[in-house]
Amino acid sequence: MGFKVSVLKKTVAGSAVAFTVLVFALFWAQRPWEWKGFWGGVRREEFVCKTGSYTTEIISIDPLLIYINNFLDEGEINGLIAEGVPNLEKSEVYLHGSKRPSEERTSSSAGLSPSSPLVQCILARAQSFMGSFFPPGGDFGTPQLVHYEQGEKFDVHHDWYQDPQPVRGKQGRWFNRVASFFVYLEGECKGGETWFPYIDVKGEGVGKWEEDKEEGGTKFVPKRGNALFWVNLHGNGTGDDRTVHAGLPLLEGRKTAMNIWPRKFYGRGDK
Ligand SMILES: *[C@@H]1O[C@H](CO)[C@@H](O)[C@H](O)[C@H]1NC(C)=O
Repeated sequence: MGFKVSVLKKTVAGSAVAFTVLVFALFWAQRPWEWKGFWGGVRREEFVCKTGSYTTEIISIDPLLIYINNFLDEGEINGLIAEGVPNLEKSEVYLHGSKRPSEERTSSSAGLSPSSPLVQCILARAQSFMGSFFPPGGDFGTPQLVHYEQGEKFDVHHDWYQDPQPVRGKQGRWFNRVASFFVYLEGECKGGETWFPYIDVKGEGVGKWEEDKEEGGTKFVPKRGNALFWVNLHGNGTGDDRTVHAGLPLLEGRKTAMNIWPRKFYGRGDK
């Protein structure tokens, strides 16, 4: 009798310990919080937006094209990929007033929610980079994640609209993409350079860019965390044809990038 009771007690005690360990393990695994000591209790970790510690190199002053080193850090890159990749769909191009899939752009893309704290943080960084060139009353619309697999490409195109686009829900108001940021998130690939046929760079790009000896212009090699910034519109608001560029076909691997398009508004309610 005594033997049985003691076995039972041990079993109960063992189960209680195992249960407690399991509960703690699950709690720990979910850890979006931080233990602040017994009286402090637990507190959720808040997203911290860093200022960014990038460096810049001017590539061309007319049209303006600036190379940005380390625009994003590892945590930001992984966060953006996690937010965007589940929503990837075949990319579309804007043609004769509507959006449609096309042979010229075979990548996939996804919108990145401007309400995400991480996306907001990156947009704030982009705005601060632009300084007083950022248009008064301007915004960024919805930034975009783009992804290229082997064989995918985006033929020569410009980011600006031939005619400013109507703003949905706001009559008499239009916008155009005054500039572009193209940020490389994943560049484990061969090919897939960003080619600007009308921008010639003097000097060595130390693996980041190179002259296109056959076709002319400059090819930028996808480098994780680095970015290109260029200005799309002339001072009078028309598009600058010299900013045309292509995503060259990916020969091997994968390439993921982020598009940020600062918008300038026109018409009613213009500030
Ligand atoms: C706008 O400015 C550009 C660059 O100075 C010039 O080439 C173009 O002809 C101008 N367009 C108009 C419509 O004024």
